[in-house]
Amino acid sequence: MSEEDIIDLAALGEDFARDPHPVYAELRARGPVHRVLLPEGFTAWLVVGYEAARAALADPRLSNDMRNAKDADLTDLVADTPNMLMSDPPRHTRLRKLVVKEFTPRRIRALEGRVEQITHELIDAMLARPEGTADLVTDFAYPLPATVICELLGVPFDDRGKFHAWSTEITKRLGDGGAQTAMGELVGYLTALLEDKRERPGDDLLSALVQTSGEDEDTLSTEELVGMAVLLLIAGQETTTGLIANGMLALLRHPDQLADLRADFSLLEGAVEEMLRYSGPTGTSLHRFTTAAVDIGGVVIPGGGELVLIGNTPANQDPERFPDASRFDIRRDAGGHLAFGHGIHACFGAPLARVEARAAVRALLERCPDLTLDIDPGALKWHPSVMMRGLTDLPVRVRATVPAG
Ligand code: HEM
Repeated sequence: MSEEDIIDLAALGEDFARDPHPVYAELRARGPVHRVLLPEGFTAWLVVGYEAARAALADPRLSNDMRNAKDADLTDLVADTPNMLMSDPPRHTRLRKLVVKEFTPRRIRALEGRVEQITHELIDAMLARPEGTADLVTDFAYPLPATVICELLGVPFDDRGKFHAWSTEITKRLGDGGAQTAMGELVGYLTALLEDKRERPGDDLLSALVQTSGEDEDTLSTEELVGMAVLLLIAGQETTTGLIANGMLALLRHPDQLADLRADFSLLEGAVEEMLRYSGPTGTSLHRFTTAAVDIGGVVIPGGGELVLIGNTPANQDPERFPDASRFDIRRDAGGHLAFGHGIHACFGAPLARVEARAAVRALLERCPDLTLDIDPGALKWHPSVMMRGLTDLPVRVRATVPAG
Protein backbone atom coordinates (compact mmCIF):
# COMPACT_ATOMS: atom_id res chain seq x y z
CA MET A 1 0.00 0.00 0.00
CA SER A 2 1.55 3.32 -1.03
CA GLU A 3 0.94 6.69 0.62
CA GLU A 4 -1.41 8.01 -2.13
CA ASP A 5 -3.51 4.87 -2.46
CA ILE A 6 -7.20 4.83 -1.82
CA ILE A 7 -7.46 1.52 -0.04
CA ASP A 8 -10.20 -0.67 -1.52
CA LEU A 9 -11.53 -2.48 1.53
CA ALA A 10 -13.74 -4.84 -0.52
CA ALA A 11 -10.67 -6.00 -2.46
CA LEU A 12 -9.11 -7.15 0.81
CA GLY A 13 -11.82 -9.84 0.77
CA GLU A 14 -12.76 -12.32 3.44
CA ASP A 15 -9.37 -12.11 5.13
CA PHE A 16 -10.16 -8.52 6.15
CA ALA A 17 -13.64 -9.46 7.42
CA ARG A 18 -12.13 -12.35 9.42
CA ASP A 19 -9.27 -10.35 10.88
CA PRO A 20 -8.97 -6.66 10.03
CA HIS A 21 -6.18 -6.08 12.55
CA PRO A 22 -3.11 -6.68 10.34
CA VAL A 23 -4.43 -4.12 7.81
CA TYR A 24 -5.33 -1.67 10.58
CA ALA A 25 -1.90 -2.10 12.19
CA GLU A 26 -0.20 -1.28 8.89
CA LEU A 27 -2.43 1.77 8.39
CA ARG A 28 -1.90 3.01 11.97
CA ALA A 29 1.86 2.71 11.50
CA ARG A 30 1.60 5.02 8.47
CA GLY A 31 -0.71 7.58 10.09
CA PRO A 32 -4.02 8.05 11.90
CA VAL A 33 -6.24 8.90 8.87
CA HIS A 34 -6.57 7.20 5.44
CA ARG A 35 -8.68 7.34 2.29
CA VAL A 36 -10.67 4.15 1.73
CA LEU A 37 -13.20 2.78 -0.73
CA LEU A 38 -15.99 1.11 1.22
CA PRO A 39 -17.55 -2.17 0.05
CA GLU A 40 -20.75 -0.13 -0.57
CA GLY A 41 -18.88 1.90 -3.24
CA PHE A 42 -18.49 5.18 -1.31
CA THR A 43 -15.10 6.80 -0.73
CA ALA A 44 -14.44 7.78 2.90
CA TRP A 45 -11.77 9.01 5.27
CA LEU A 46 -11.10 6.33 7.87
CA VAL A 47 -9.65 7.31 11.25
CA VAL A 48 -7.57 4.47 12.72
CA GLY A 49 -5.50 5.97 15.57
CA TYR A 50 -6.90 6.14 19.12
CA GLU A 51 -6.16 9.80 19.93
CA ALA A 52 -7.33 10.95 16.50
CA ALA A 53 -10.52 8.87 16.81
CA ARG A 54 -11.33 10.27 20.24
CA ALA A 55 -10.75 13.82 19.04
CA ALA A 56 -12.85 13.24 15.91
CA LEU A 57 -15.75 11.84 17.95
CA ALA A 58 -15.84 15.09 19.94
CA ASP A 59 -15.38 17.45 16.96
CA PRO A 60 -18.48 19.57 16.26
CA ARG A 61 -17.33 20.17 12.66
CA LEU A 62 -18.13 16.53 11.93
CA SER A 63 -21.88 16.27 11.42
CA ASN A 64 -24.09 13.19 11.81
CA ASP A 65 -26.77 14.69 9.56
CA MET A 66 -26.80 12.98 6.16
CA ARG A 67 -28.16 16.13 4.56
CA ASN A 68 -24.60 17.46 4.91
CA ALA A 69 -23.22 14.69 2.67
CA LYS A 70 -21.43 15.77 -0.50
CA ASP A 71 -22.43 12.56 -2.22
CA ALA A 72 -25.99 12.78 -3.57
CA ASP A 73 -26.43 9.00 -3.29
CA LEU A 74 -25.88 9.28 0.43
CA THR A 75 -28.18 12.30 0.77
CA ASP A 76 -30.94 10.18 -0.82
CA LEU A 77 -30.71 7.80 2.10
CA VAL A 78 -31.98 10.36 4.61
CA ALA A 79 -34.70 8.62 6.52
CA ASP A 80 -38.06 10.37 6.75
CA THR A 81 -37.91 9.50 10.41
CA PRO A 82 -35.40 11.72 12.19
CA ASN A 83 -33.40 10.06 14.94
CA MET A 84 -30.83 11.37 17.38
CA LEU A 85 -27.88 9.41 15.97
CA MET A 86 -28.44 11.06 12.58
CA SER A 87 -28.90 14.52 14.11
CA ASP A 88 -26.67 17.36 15.31
CA PRO A 89 -27.43 19.81 18.11
CA PRO A 90 -29.88 21.33 18.81
CA ARG A 91 -32.17 18.53 17.53
CA HIS A 92 -29.83 15.84 18.90
CA THR A 93 -29.76 17.48 22.36
CA ARG A 94 -33.53 17.67 22.52
CA LEU A 95 -34.21 14.09 21.34
CA ARG A 96 -31.54 12.59 23.59
CA LYS A 97 -32.81 14.47 26.64
CA LEU A 98 -36.36 13.22 26.12
CA VAL A 99 -35.35 9.55 25.89
CA VAL A 100 -32.66 9.56 28.59
CA LYS A 101 -35.36 10.82 30.96
CA GLU A 102 -37.22 7.53 30.43
CA PHE A 103 -34.21 5.20 29.98
CA THR A 104 -33.53 5.32 33.71
CA PRO A 105 -31.21 3.21 35.90
CA ARG A 106 -34.40 2.07 37.68
CA ARG A 107 -35.78 0.69 34.38
CA ILE A 108 -32.48 -1.13 33.71
CA ARG A 109 -32.27 -2.52 37.26
CA ALA A 110 -35.84 -3.75 36.97
CA LEU A 111 -34.77 -5.77 33.91
CA GLU A 112 -31.84 -7.54 35.59
CA GLY A 113 -33.87 -10.46 36.97
CA ARG A 114 -35.62 -10.91 33.65
CA VAL A 115 -32.28 -10.88 31.78
CA GLU A 116 -31.06 -13.72 33.99
CA GLN A 117 -34.28 -15.65 33.51
CA ILE A 118 -34.11 -15.38 29.69
CA THR A 119 -30.41 -16.34 29.79
CA HIS A 120 -31.13 -19.50 31.77
CA GLU A 121 -34.07 -20.49 29.57
CA LEU A 122 -31.88 -20.23 26.47
CA ILE A 123 -29.15 -22.33 28.13
CA ASP A 124 -31.75 -24.92 29.26
CA ALA A 125 -32.85 -25.27 25.63
CA MET A 126 -29.25 -25.66 24.37
CA LEU A 127 -28.38 -28.24 27.05
CA ALA A 128 -31.53 -30.23 26.34
CA ARG A 129 -30.44 -31.01 22.80
CA PRO A 130 -29.44 -34.63 22.38
CA GLU A 131 -26.46 -33.81 20.15
CA GLY A 132 -24.89 -31.48 22.76
CA THR A 133 -24.04 -28.81 20.17
CA ALA A 134 -25.45 -25.35 19.49
CA ASP A 135 -24.89 -22.20 17.47
CA LEU A 136 -24.06 -19.58 20.07
CA VAL A 137 -25.20 -16.76 17.75
CA THR A 138 -28.63 -18.08 16.70
CA ASP A 139 -29.46 -19.99 19.88
CA PHE A 140 -28.16 -17.54 22.45
CA ALA A 141 -26.39 -14.27 21.59
CA TYR A 142 -29.14 -13.11 19.23
CA PRO A 143 -32.35 -14.10 21.11
CA LEU A 144 -31.17 -12.73 24.47
CA PRO A 145 -30.87 -9.02 23.49
CA ALA A 146 -33.71 -9.31 20.97
CA THR A 147 -36.09 -10.52 23.69
CA VAL A 148 -34.83 -7.94 26.19
CA ILE A 149 -35.16 -4.96 23.82
CA CYS A 150 -38.63 -6.07 22.67
CA GLU A 151 -39.79 -6.38 26.29
CA LEU A 152 -38.20 -3.05 27.24
CA LEU A 153 -39.89 -1.27 24.35
CA GLY A 154 -43.16 -3.19 24.59
CA VAL A 155 -43.00 -4.93 21.20
CA PRO A 156 -45.19 -8.08 21.11
CA PHE A 157 -43.13 -11.24 21.55
CA ASP A 158 -44.66 -12.93 18.49
CA ASP A 159 -43.34 -10.18 16.19
CA ARG A 160 -39.67 -10.75 17.10
CA GLY A 161 -39.01 -12.86 13.99
CA LYS A 162 -40.00 -9.96 11.75
CA PHE A 163 -37.65 -7.64 13.64
CA HIS A 164 -34.77 -10.01 13.22
CA ALA A 165 -35.24 -10.04 9.45
CA TRP A 166 -35.66 -6.25 9.24
CA SER A 167 -32.76 -5.30 11.48
CA THR A 168 -30.39 -7.76 9.78
CA GLU A 169 -31.30 -6.24 6.40
CA ILE A 170 -30.96 -2.65 7.66
CA THR A 171 -27.56 -3.04 9.33
CA LYS A 172 -26.05 -5.03 6.45
CA ARG A 173 -24.99 -2.39 3.94
CA LEU A 174 -25.11 1.35 3.58
CA GLY A 175 -27.41 2.31 0.71
CA ASP A 176 -28.58 -1.21 -0.07
CA GLY A 177 -32.02 -1.52 -1.74
CA GLY A 178 -33.09 -4.37 0.56
CA ALA A 179 -32.18 -2.23 3.56
CA GLN A 180 -34.48 0.53 2.38
CA THR A 181 -37.42 -1.85 1.82
CA ALA A 182 -36.88 -3.34 5.28
CA MET A 183 -36.75 0.14 6.81
CA GLY A 184 -40.07 1.03 5.11
CA GLU A 185 -41.73 -2.07 6.54
CA LEU A 186 -40.32 -1.50 10.02
CA VAL A 187 -41.51 2.13 10.00
CA GLY A 188 -45.02 1.03 8.94
CA TYR A 189 -45.17 -1.57 11.70
CA LEU A 190 -43.93 0.81 14.42
CA THR A 191 -46.27 3.63 13.38
CA ALA A 192 -49.24 1.28 13.94
CA LEU A 193 -47.76 -0.04 17.22
CA LEU A 194 -47.24 3.49 18.60
CA GLU A 195 -50.81 4.41 17.72
CA ASP A 196 -51.89 1.41 19.76
CA LYS A 197 -49.67 2.48 22.71
CA ARG A 198 -51.28 5.94 22.64
CA GLU A 199 -54.70 4.37 23.12
CA ARG A 200 -53.71 1.53 25.44
CA PRO A 201 -50.47 2.53 27.23
CA GLY A 202 -48.54 -0.17 29.08
CA ASP A 203 -45.61 -0.14 31.49
CA ASP A 204 -43.05 -0.15 28.66
CA LEU A 205 -40.59 2.40 27.28
CA LEU A 206 -42.54 3.17 24.08
CA SER A 207 -45.69 3.92 26.10
CA ALA A 208 -43.62 6.20 28.33
CA LEU A 209 -42.15 7.97 25.28
CA VAL A 210 -45.61 8.47 23.76
CA GLN A 211 -46.58 10.35 26.91
CA THR A 212 -43.24 11.96 27.70
CA SER A 213 -42.86 15.69 28.01
CA GLY A 214 -39.80 17.80 28.69
CA GLU A 215 -39.35 20.72 31.06
CA ASP A 216 -41.14 23.05 28.65
CA GLU A 217 -43.91 20.55 27.88
CA ASP A 218 -41.89 19.41 24.86
CA THR A 219 -43.18 16.17 23.33
CA LEU A 220 -42.05 13.91 20.52
CA SER A 221 -43.87 14.16 17.19
CA THR A 222 -45.12 10.93 15.59
CA GLU A 223 -42.15 10.92 13.17
CA GLU A 224 -39.72 11.49 16.01
CA LEU A 225 -41.29 8.69 18.04
CA VAL A 226 -41.01 6.26 15.14
CA GLY A 227 -37.41 7.35 14.52
CA MET A 228 -36.60 6.81 18.19
CA ALA A 229 -38.22 3.35 18.23
CA VAL A 230 -36.34 2.29 15.07
CA LEU A 231 -33.05 3.50 16.52
CA LEU A 232 -33.52 1.82 19.92
CA LEU A 233 -34.51 -1.47 18.31
CA ILE A 234 -31.60 -1.57 15.90
CA ALA A 235 -28.92 -0.02 18.12
CA GLY A 236 -29.63 -2.42 20.97
CA GLN A 237 -29.77 -5.71 19.08
CA GLU A 238 -26.99 -6.63 16.66
CA THR A 239 -24.49 -4.78 18.84
CA THR A 240 -25.23 -6.75 22.00
CA THR A 241 -25.34 -9.99 20.00
CA GLY A 242 -21.88 -9.11 18.67
CA LEU A 243 -20.51 -8.33 22.12
CA ILE A 244 -21.65 -11.68 23.52
CA ALA A 245 -20.61 -13.79 20.50
CA ASN A 246 -17.29 -12.05 19.74
CA GLY A 247 -16.49 -11.97 23.45
CA MET A 248 -17.23 -15.66 23.99
CA LEU A 249 -15.08 -16.50 20.96
CA ALA A 250 -12.19 -14.55 22.51
CA LEU A 251 -12.62 -16.45 25.77
CA LEU A 252 -12.90 -19.84 24.07
CA ARG A 253 -9.71 -19.10 22.17
CA HIS A 254 -7.94 -18.30 25.45
CA PRO A 255 -8.79 -21.32 27.63
CA ASP A 256 -6.44 -20.27 30.45
CA GLN A 257 -8.27 -17.01 30.91
CA LEU A 258 -11.62 -18.74 30.56
CA ALA A 259 -10.61 -21.06 33.43
CA ASP A 260 -9.42 -18.09 35.53
CA LEU A 261 -12.73 -16.31 35.03
CA ARG A 262 -14.74 -19.42 35.84
CA ALA A 263 -12.77 -19.74 39.08
CA ASP A 264 -13.16 -16.09 40.07
CA PHE A 265 -16.17 -14.09 38.87
CA SER A 266 -14.81 -10.92 40.45
CA LEU A 267 -12.90 -10.73 37.12
CA LEU A 268 -16.17 -10.59 35.16
CA GLU A 269 -16.60 -6.82 34.91
CA GLY A 270 -13.06 -6.36 33.59
CA ALA A 271 -13.43 -9.33 31.25
CA VAL A 272 -16.49 -7.78 29.56
CA GLU A 273 -14.64 -4.44 29.14
CA GLU A 274 -11.72 -6.32 27.58
CA MET A 275 -14.15 -8.13 25.23
CA LEU A 276 -15.46 -4.70 24.16
CA ARG A 277 -11.93 -3.40 23.60
CA TYR A 278 -10.42 -6.48 21.97
CA SER A 279 -13.27 -7.50 19.66
CA GLY A 280 -16.22 -5.15 20.19
CA PRO A 281 -19.09 -5.27 17.72
CA THR A 282 -18.82 -1.74 16.31
CA GLY A 283 -16.10 -1.61 13.65
CA THR A 284 -16.59 2.11 13.14
CA SER A 285 -18.87 4.92 14.22
CA LEU A 286 -21.85 5.76 12.09
CA HIS A 287 -21.01 8.15 9.20
CA ARG A 288 -19.85 11.71 9.89
CA PHE A 289 -19.70 14.54 7.34
CA THR A 290 -17.33 17.53 7.35
CA THR A 291 -19.01 20.92 7.64
CA ALA A 292 -15.60 22.68 7.52
CA ALA A 293 -12.01 21.64 6.84
CA VAL A 294 -10.81 19.53 9.79
CA ASP A 295 -7.25 18.66 10.75
CA ILE A 296 -7.29 15.17 12.25
CA GLY A 297 -3.92 13.88 13.39
CA GLY A 298 -2.13 16.14 10.90
CA VAL A 299 -4.32 15.20 7.91
CA VAL A 300 -6.53 17.99 6.61
CA ILE A 301 -9.90 16.66 5.48
CA PRO A 302 -11.65 19.22 3.29
CA GLY A 303 -15.01 20.69 4.29
CA GLY A 304 -18.14 20.36 2.17
CA GLY A 305 -19.58 17.01 3.24
CA GLU A 306 -16.68 14.54 3.01
CA LEU A 307 -17.64 11.15 4.50
CA VAL A 308 -15.61 10.27 7.61
CA LEU A 309 -15.73 6.96 9.49
CA ILE A 310 -14.14 6.79 12.90
CA GLY A 311 -12.68 3.35 13.56
CA ASN A 312 -13.55 1.97 17.00
CA THR A 313 -11.97 -1.39 16.19
CA PRO A 314 -8.57 -0.03 15.07
CA ALA A 315 -8.52 2.64 17.83
CA ASN A 316 -9.10 0.02 20.51
CA GLN A 317 -6.04 -1.91 19.39
CA ASP A 318 -3.76 1.11 19.08
CA PRO A 319 -0.57 0.12 20.96
CA GLU A 320 0.11 3.79 21.78
CA ARG A 321 -2.98 3.76 23.99
CA PHE A 322 -3.19 0.11 25.13
CA PRO A 323 0.15 -1.62 25.78
CA ASP A 324 0.45 -4.98 24.02
CA ALA A 325 -2.89 -4.07 22.44
CA SER A 326 -3.32 -7.16 20.27
CA ARG A 327 -3.25 -9.43 23.33
CA PHE A 328 -6.56 -10.48 24.94
CA ASP A 329 -6.09 -9.99 28.67
CA ILE A 330 -9.11 -9.99 31.01
CA ARG A 331 -6.98 -8.51 33.82
CA ARG A 332 -5.87 -5.40 31.93
CA ASP A 333 -7.38 -1.97 32.46
CA ALA A 334 -9.45 -1.65 29.28
CA GLY A 335 -11.05 1.60 30.50
CA GLY A 336 -11.21 4.33 27.89
CA HIS A 337 -12.00 1.94 25.02
CA LEU A 338 -14.19 3.45 22.31
CA ALA A 339 -16.56 0.50 21.77
CA PHE A 340 -19.49 2.62 23.02
CA GLY A 341 -18.26 5.74 21.22
CA HIS A 342 -17.39 9.04 22.85
CA GLY A 343 -18.73 12.59 22.91
CA ILE A 344 -22.34 13.68 22.55
CA HIS A 345 -23.42 10.51 20.71
CA ALA A 346 -21.81 8.08 23.19
CA CYS A 347 -24.05 5.06 23.72
CA PHE A 348 -26.56 5.45 26.54
CA GLY A 349 -27.58 1.80 26.16
CA ALA A 350 -24.16 0.77 27.54
CA PRO A 351 -25.45 -0.07 31.07
CA LEU A 352 -28.06 -2.42 29.58
CA ALA A 353 -25.54 -4.04 27.22
CA ARG A 354 -23.18 -4.60 30.17
CA VAL A 355 -25.94 -6.17 32.30
CA GLU A 356 -26.77 -8.58 29.46
CA ALA A 357 -23.18 -9.49 28.62
CA ARG A 358 -22.18 -10.13 32.24
CA ALA A 359 -25.26 -12.30 32.84
CA ALA A 360 -24.68 -14.19 29.58
CA VAL A 361 -20.98 -14.92 30.11
CA ARG A 362 -21.38 -15.90 33.74
CA ALA A 363 -24.32 -18.25 33.13
CA LEU A 364 -22.59 -19.93 30.17
CA LEU A 365 -19.42 -20.58 32.19
CA GLU A 366 -21.29 -21.75 35.28
CA ARG A 367 -23.73 -24.03 33.51
CA CYS A 368 -21.60 -25.38 30.66
CA PRO A 369 -18.34 -26.63 32.21
CA ASP A 370 -17.43 -28.42 28.97
CA LEU A 371 -18.13 -25.50 26.63
CA THR A 372 -15.74 -25.61 23.64
CA LEU A 373 -15.58 -24.37 20.06
CA ASP A 374 -17.01 -26.86 17.58
CA ILE A 375 -15.28 -25.37 14.53
CA ASP A 376 -11.78 -24.48 13.43
CA PRO A 377 -11.58 -20.71 14.24
CA GLY A 378 -10.15 -20.08 10.77
CA ALA A 379 -13.38 -21.40 9.22
CA LEU A 380 -15.65 -18.98 11.10
CA LYS A 381 -17.62 -16.57 8.89
CA TRP A 382 -17.84 -12.85 9.67
CA HIS A 383 -20.32 -10.32 8.28
CA PRO A 384 -18.55 -8.33 5.53
CA SER A 385 -19.48 -4.93 7.01
CA VAL A 386 -16.79 -2.42 8.01
CA MET A 387 -19.15 -0.68 10.45
CA MET A 388 -20.26 -3.78 12.33
CA ARG A 389 -18.01 -6.61 13.38
CA GLY A 390 -20.01 -9.79 13.91
CA LEU A 391 -19.97 -13.54 13.36
CA THR A 392 -22.63 -15.16 11.18
CA ASP A 393 -22.57 -18.20 13.47
CA LEU A 394 -20.53 -19.68 16.30
CA PRO A 395 -20.76 -23.48 16.50
CA VAL A 396 -20.02 -24.77 20.01
CA ARG A 397 -20.25 -27.96 22.01
CA VAL A 398 -22.26 -27.16 25.14
CA ARG A 399 -21.97 -30.66 26.62
CA ALA A 400 -19.10 -33.09 26.39
CA THR A 401 -21.09 -36.29 26.22
CA VAL A 402 -24.53 -37.41 25.15
CA PRO A 403 -26.61 -38.19 28.26
CA ALA A 404 -27.63 -41.81 28.69
CA GLY A 405 -31.17 -42.69 27.63
C1 HEM B 1 -22.62 -3.97 23.12
C2 HEM B 1 -23.64 -3.27 22.82
C3 HEM B 1 -23.57 -1.88 22.24
C4 HEM B 1 -22.54 -1.25 21.61
C5 HEM B 1 -21.14 -1.76 21.34
C6 HEM B 1 -23.02 0.07 21.23
C7 HEM B 1 -22.25 1.02 20.60
C8 HEM B 1 -22.67 2.31 20.31
C9 HEM B 1 -21.84 3.32 19.71
C10 HEM B 1 -20.39 3.13 19.26
C11 HEM B 1 -22.58 4.45 19.58
C12 HEM B 1 -22.13 5.79 18.98
C13 HEM B 1 -22.20 5.77 17.49
C14 HEM B 1 -21.58 6.98 16.84
O1 HEM B 1 -21.02 7.86 17.54
O2 HEM B 1 -21.60 7.06 15.61
C15 HEM B 1 -23.89 4.15 20.11
C16 HEM B 1 -24.94 5.04 20.14
C17 HEM B 1 -26.19 4.68 20.57
N1 HEM B 1 -26.58 3.49 21.16
FE1 HEM B 1 -25.43 1.89 21.52
N2 HEM B 1 -24.32 0.20 21.63
C18 HEM B 1 -24.70 -0.96 22.25
C19 HEM B 1 -25.91 -1.25 22.83
C20 HEM B 1 -26.97 -0.39 22.87
C21 HEM B 1 -28.24 -0.66 23.51
C22 HEM B 1 -28.57 -1.92 24.29
C23 HEM B 1 -29.03 0.43 23.26
C24 HEM B 1 -30.45 0.73 23.66
C25 HEM B 1 -31.28 -0.03 24.20
C26 HEM B 1 -28.25 1.38 22.50
C27 HEM B 1 -28.70 2.61 22.06
C28 HEM B 1 -27.92 3.57 21.45
C29 HEM B 1 -28.43 4.86 20.98
C30 HEM B 1 -29.87 5.33 21.09
C31 HEM B 1 -27.34 5.56 20.45
C32 HEM B 1 -27.35 6.97 19.83
C33 HEM B 1 -26.97 7.99 20.89
C34 HEM B 1 -26.89 9.40 20.36
O3 HEM B 1 -26.91 9.62 19.13
O4 HEM B 1 -26.81 10.33 21.18
N3 HEM B 1 -27.01 0.86 22.28
N4 HEM B 1 -23.91 2.84 20.56
